[in-house]
Amino acid sequence: MHDGFASASDRAAYINGLPKAELHLHIEGSLEPELMFELAQRNGVTIPFASVEEVRAAYAFSNLQDFLDIYYQGMGVLHTEQDFHDLTAAYLARAHADAVRHVEIFFDPQGHTARGVAFGTVITGITRALDDAHARYGITSKLIMCFLRHLSEADAEATLDEALPYLGRIDGVGLDSSEVGHPPSKFTRVFTRARALGLKIVAHAGEEGPPAYVYEALDLLGVDRVDHGNRSLEDPALVARLATAGMTLTVCPLSNLKLCVVGDVADHPLKIMLDAGLRATVNSDDPSYFGGYVNANYLTVADALDLSKAELITLARNSFTGSFLDDAAKAKHLAAIAAYT
Ligand code: ADE
Ligand code: ZN
Repeated sequence: MHDGFASASDRAAYINGLPKAELHLHIEGSLEPELMFELAQRNGVTIPFASVEEVRAAYAFSNLQDFLDIYYQGMGVLHTEQDFHDLTAAYLARAHADAVRHVEIFFDPQGHTARGVAFGTVITGITRALDDAHARYGITSKLIMCFLRHLSEADAEATLDEALPYLGRIDGVGLDSSEVGHPPSKFTRVFTRARALGLKIVAHAGEEGPPAYVYEALDLLGVDRVDHGNRSLEDPALVARLATAGMTLTVCPLSNLKLCVVGDVADHPLKIMLDAGLRATVNSDDPSYFGGYVNANYLTVADALDLSKAELITLARNSFTGSFLDDAAKAKHLAAIAAYT
């Protein structure tokens, strides 16, 4: 019936236990409404919702900006180091339950420093939870600091300056927030400096923006990975270049659905990407806002696109191959996938 599986429920069970890495996760986007209320109360912050149900009902978006407006509002409850710890610890517990063995987490420092929260408060809380999860679950992690592209390059430069004392805990820099009108070329200098500091480079490109933004991410920022990249498919020469280069795309199916990047999950381009030889991975982006963690993303596309066992194995392998782990760690995880049945 399903290639490699006796039934859809067998495939679901297989996905649930399949060892995987998550490479595209905004930690602020994992803030569940229950924790939002708890932190609002703890910090004496007022939020414009009366109940958890009201918050969830507000999560109806017609594009990226609709979502971002509510995402920046939501993160306003985060104030103390303990808040950032609790947020990160909650995500890592969910990731562990989804058989995630390695995470590469984005954080948006400008969303916090602009509200008067110190950079050190944010990173100390997050890294304490990452260390705890490594000890408790064996999950390894990398941390990627994103620049908000709707702000200026000078603001990004100042944020990179603030990060300098913490570079021992920061593995890469990324680019997120409102894409259209804020091309990668706006940030060429700050990314050149980040690369010279030895940081890995990623950027959201081709989520809503055109293929030209993906070219800029490659040619001007020198990205090691492309976040989303969906609109690359409009340009066959770009697809060929990405495939030849073995460039990883961090694809986020439920995000694409909720932000109307695709109209229907049956139209999701993940299978087209795999068939084109692109190194696509499956990720949750902002799971609290988009209705599911990483396994829910795998399950949704597996059902809608009738993914085979071989395709699921490719996706899980890609998540480690495309990670910033060293070769020995990648080999260990790929062997665990091979041993998984
Ligand atoms: N910030 C959080 N999630 C994002 C996304 N999917 N695209 C751009 N910026 C984001
Ligand atoms: Zn994202």
